Amino acid sequence: MEKFILKGGKKLQGEVFVSVAKNSILPIIAATILSGSKCTIENAPELEDVYVICDLLKSINVKADFKEGSIYLDSSCMVGNEEPDSELVRKMRASFLIMGPMLSRFGRVKISLPGGCNIGSRPIDLHLKGFKALGATIDLGHGFVEAKADKLRGGSIYLDFPSVGATENIMMAAVLADGDTIIENAAEEPEIKDLANFLVKMGAIISGAGTDTIIIKGVKQLKGVSYTPIFDRIEAGTYMVAGALTNSNIKIVGAEEENLRSLIAKLIECGVKLEIGQGFIIINGHDGLSPIDIKTMPYPGFPTDMQSPMMSLMCLAQGTSIVTETVFENRFMHASELKRMGANIKIDGRCAVIEGIKSFSGCNVKATDLRAGAALILAGLVAEGTTTIEDIYHIDRGYVCIEKKLKKLGANIERIQV
Ligand code: UD1
Repeated sequence: MEKFILKGGKKLQGEVFVSVAKNSILPIIAATILSGSKCTIENAPELEDVYVICDLLKSINVKADFKEGSIYLDSSCMVGNEEPDSELVRKMRASFLIMGPMLSRFGRVKISLPGGCNIGSRPIDLHLKGFKALGATIDLGHGFVEAKADKLRGGSIYLDFPSVGATENIMMAAVLADGDTIIENAAEEPEIKDLANFLVKMGAIISGAGTDTIIIKGVKQLKGVSYTPIFDRIEAGTYMVAGALTNSNIKIVGAEEENLRSLIAKLIECGVKLEIGQGFIIINGHDGLSPIDIKTMPYPGFPTDMQSPMMSLMCLAQGTSIVTETVFENRFMHASELKRMGANIKIDGRCAVIEGIKSFSGCNVKATDLRAGAALILAGLVAEGTTTIEDIYHIDRGYVCIEKKLKKLGANIERIQV
């Protein structure tokens, strides 16, 4: 087991380089199944979730080699009756993203129901509703879901909620279907646009990705390509908050303003000074943090993945701040850990009311999920004394070498084996 030990109070300085987006590369790796040939994903981040999806693809006869920053995938050996390793599927909710590509290419897929972060019930009804609209029959039972279709055909799907995963899965299922598919109330996240760009490079015909209506014209075949996914806006945002919280001057290289508008607006409202450049953002500290209210929403609203990191900042803003979480029903687990560090937070259903405190006090805390873990690291950077964070495997799922990147900025953080 590993832990992070942080000694708070160090100012940060210098540059930090953002890695490729976890939430882009996972669906893109799943989408390589559609090519039935060789694809290379460049600049791949060394993350636990990326290793899991590669292992998952290996369990269905895809060759997946992670070498010198690139992942070389070859799905030409698949025959269509493969069953994905259930242990791996349960390990990560994004595993479910192989369902659309497998169904599209082979007309059949059977997969264990997915797992993932412990932040809510996270059903898959919208994914299945989409597959049904494309002509698939769905059977659920004994912890498995099986989808079948002689040949998928284009259809019209209105999503009751703009689910990121459902939009991606349906888009991937539709690219090889007969005819046109329209997805309405689609998710608009930058990662959806990135996946569409990848599919288009493979030969798919897709318009409207990045808006709430996506139109896909089915094609007969796709080809293997090389691709570099976009930078991780959530990782960039986490370092922006790190700079703000420690009242430091740091440059975040790879932070794209276009994808971070809601966070930038909220940081400015909070009193954080920042400078926006082409492909980078500089945080220039603050002259006192003001309380703010945030409400998480699908993109372009405030991202739920930034809610926990932002809460650490709000804890130190003098006055009352309110967080309303509308995307996941159980995403305040970090609050009780932050309270152990001295935060004054009251939870009422989907709202958290935060009264500003002067400082955090270091203690032993547990990362309960990926972004909750990031929130604790951020609090630890400014806490008085020593903060020990357990269960950091959650953090390794989504942040590349976080302790190395923070150390390079001057933070006092160590990873220890226990
Ligand atoms: C993705 C991201 C995750 C992010 C989330 C919301 C990846 C790998 N993960 O997760 O980091 O926090 O988007 O931005 O990209 N829902 C249903 N039925 C469904 C599907 C979803 O009710 O069939 C609900 C979920 O329970 C949740 C909400 O929709 O309350 C949003 O989920 P969704 O957008 O699907 O998130 P993920 O794709 O799982």
